[in-house]
Amino acid sequence: MRSAKREPRGVDLSSTTRRNQREWDRTAGWFEARHGATLSRGNAMGWGLFHVPERRLHILGDVRDRDVLELGCGAARWSVALTRRGARVVGLDLSSRRLEQARKESRHARVEFPLLAASAESVPLRDASFDIVFCDFGAMTFADPYHTVPEAARVLRPGGLLAFSTWTPLHELCFDRGRDRVGRRLLRPYFALHRIDFSGAVEFQLPYGEWIRLFRENGLGVETLMELPAPPRGRTTFLYPAEIPWARRWPIEVIWRARKEPVPVAR
Ligand SMILES: C[S@@+](CC[C@H](N)C(=O)[O-])C[C@H]1O[C@@H](n2cnc3c(N)ncnc32)[C@H](O)[C@@H]1O
Repeated sequence: MRSAKREPRGVDLSSTTRRNQREWDRTAGWFEARHGATLSRGNAMGWGLFHVPERRLHILGDVRDRDVLELGCGAARWSVALTRRGARVVGLDLSSRRLEQARKESRHARVEFPLLAASAESVPLRDASFDIVFCDFGAMTFADPYHTVPEAARVLRPGGLLAFSTWTPLHELCFDRGRDRVGRRLLRPYFALHRIDFSGAVEFQLPYGEWIRLFRENGLGVETLMELPAPPRGRTTFLYPAEIPWARRWPIEVIWRARKEPVPVAR
């Protein structure tokens, strides 16, 4: 398998990104032990906290012969599954420990694709080289959208798709840091949403209008904003059982689909 040997360029990384890199290196083993089985369910192509199958949601559609970039691939289960479906995939992640897991996963599956050690905030790949850029609670949750959205737009071809799942703004507003779970009170201001520093890895979130403005500014038009309720009898290792009723009543996670504008036809 081709695999980038070098680490993400430390000098180029912000202190927040370096902190997230250390945090994901530190927790990589724990994350796999806790969530590996959830993320492997079905054919491993599942979205969000409840791993809702791609074959039900059709977020990416037909990937055969498509160039696909996974931003924050972790153990790269999605990348493995997409390669098997005929996509040409690149898996990118900030954490060398998570990339070791990705190598192990792809060796085990006997599937080959490039794995790249880099930050989604500064992607070392050519402009207009992908048809699909995506992640499932990957770098679009843990890296600054003011850098990741322009980077995703840059590497997409005209007409290409950006798709990602992440928390909702409402979840971030209601997350009770002291109790380490989501609650029923709004605990912070909506319009100040950006960098969220609860503990551990830093996350990012924007007000809905600001996401849409940022997509538009980078030539991306929103096609879908899918708010996913917790499925009936849904199981997950990503929430405490007491949080699941919340996620049935209020939106806890979303999937965004945004399309890069096609090149205008000359008249
Ligand atoms: C919650 S995991 C999800 C990964 C994947 N969907 C999986 O199933 O394992 C988030 C991943 O994003 C990666 N990540 C965080 N910040 C990143 C950044 N700035 N650039 C690239 N990857 C990043 C982490 O190292 C981690 O592997």
